[in-house]
Amino acid sequence: MFSILCYIFSITSSIKIDEIRNHLGTRTPYRFKSNEQVFKIKYNHCKDAKIWMMVRHGTRLPSAKDIRRMNSTLKDLKYEILMQNRLKKGLLNSQELDAFKEWSSDLDINQEKFLTYEGKDEMILLAERTQKRFPNVLKRKYNNHSFEFRYTATQRAQQSARYFTIGLFDKKDAQNVIFSPATKVDMHLRFYKHCDKWQKQVKKNPNTYKEQKKFGKSRIMNDTLVSVSQRLGLNRTLSLGTVKLIYKTCGYETSWRKHHLSPWCHAFDHRSAEVMEYYIDLRHYWLDGYGHNLSYRQACILMKIMFERFRRNGPDATFLFAHSGTLLKLLTKLQLYKSERPLTGDEMDRNRKWRASEIDCFASNLAFVLYKCKDGDHILTMHQERIVKLPMCDKELCPLTTLWNYFRESINDCDINDMCRLN
Ligand SMILES: *[C@@H]1O[C@H](CO)[C@@H](O)[C@H](O)[C@H]1NC(C)=O
Ligand SMILES: *[C@@H]1O[C@H](CO)[C@@H](O)[C@H](O)[C@H]1NC(C)=O
Ligand SMILES: *[C@@H]1O[C@H](CO)[C@@H](O)[C@H](O)[C@H]1NC(C)=O
Ligand SMILES: *[C@@H]1O[C@H](CO)[C@@H](O)[C@H](O)[C@H]1NC(C)=O
Ligand SMILES: *[C@@H]1O[C@H](CO)[C@@H](O)[C@H](O)[C@H]1NC(C)=O
Repeated sequence: MFSILCYIFSITSSIKIDEIRNHLGTRTPYRFKSNEQVFKIKYNHCKDAKIWMMVRHGTRLPSAKDIRRMNSTLKDLKYEILMQNRLKKGLLNSQELDAFKEWSSDLDINQEKFLTYEGKDEMILLAERTQKRFPNVLKRKYNNHSFEFRYTATQRAQQSARYFTIGLFDKKDAQNVIFSPATKVDMHLRFYKHCDKWQKQVKKNPNTYKEQKKFGKSRIMNDTLVSVSQRLGLNRTLSLGTVKLIYKTCGYETSWRKHHLSPWCHAFDHRSAEVMEYYIDLRHYWLDGYGHNLSYRQACILMKIMFERFRRNGPDATFLFAHSGTLLKLLTKLQLYKSERPLTGDEMDRNRKWRASEIDCFASNLAFVLYKCKDGDHILTMHQERIVKLPMCDKELCPLTTLWNYFRESINDCDINDMCRLN
């Protein structure tokens, strides 16, 4: 069996940039997912009147822990790979080996999770395209009554908001934009951080990671660890922890620079990249998605503030800059990307709709746009700049009352203190 596997591995070539781009999970840069087709979104007898948009911060640097491990584990591994390959081990070609030779990592620990240059670019371009689609509500001229900008108390969300305004307005106006002050406890943008019940029953509950753990110990994952190690020419099998670090680094380094593929991506063929992608998807499915209803019930707070903006006076354009955990819970509240069966560690669900590479990339965004029409108010939903039809509505341009009727109960019962109290 082992020799058959070796044979299969040896004939599959390592991954190319146009393959890996679909399997980078939460570290997918937005340029791989954005919608570059830009035109004004018009409906007969309707006018875009308000917009409410939630944006995940753009492409960022790794955590301090990952920066340290790249600096130690991966630097050592690089030399091991080069040594083994000098003995003609492994499947890397000479170009791939050259890329390893040139690789280094010297990230500053003080800049952990900072927004990168690419992340700034993502925000500017996203803002420019959004404005072109909705020119009526998004006037090029800034005015402090029409626009509202908020971000969480993090460098990456704050900088994302800042660069988004640079995309929306001219230089002088952008300097005068007023941002709502960020608060340490943010019950709107990071409600789950302060939900004691969710922290205890979901986030810190080992059960949440049960399926992911199971998949981590599965036959298919074992084969992947062997495949990665052999591809790199190693005479030992890497641990899951190290392969995870390689996968993350592949994502980060590819995301930071346009037209660049991190050498660490060469550790994977198409199959092993898919396996790592599924492994990460399992975590978010059970932590932030359909796995636990408390995760997404809390997102009623977001629906509530969105309806308040659309039904009352106040700013016409609201832009909120937050995190993966916020966006995923909102998408789940909207019943989007739901798989027929829960994701499990028993086998890889290849037809799942829940894919971080699609729905949780850097700069992921969800927008509701209020259209004032002859026959009443309607709401258009856009995810990653594409129109989506919500499952609770027959049409993409959904009557506001239809949406309100669907969410009314959960909004009226949206008492986070009550929902999150530990009994
Ligand atoms: C990386 O490693 C070098 C030496 O091994 C050390 O001097 C440096 O401080 C490390 N940098 C980080 C960010 O850990
Ligand atoms: C908002 O802008 C107006 C002028 O357009 C100005 O008078 C007012 O002070 C501004 N408000 C704040 C909070 O800066
Ligand atoms: C996977 O590998 C680990 C350790 O190498 C082993 O304990 C486990 O039994 C393997 N699992 C399967 C399903 O082969
Ligand atoms: C693996 O290769 C290294 C040299 O890179 C060598 O020192 C070590 O003995 C080898 N281990 C085994 C188990 O062959
Ligand atoms: C949420 O899930 C819990 C069990 O995990 C269940 O007891 C409860 O009825 C569910 N609530 C709703 C509103 O579905």
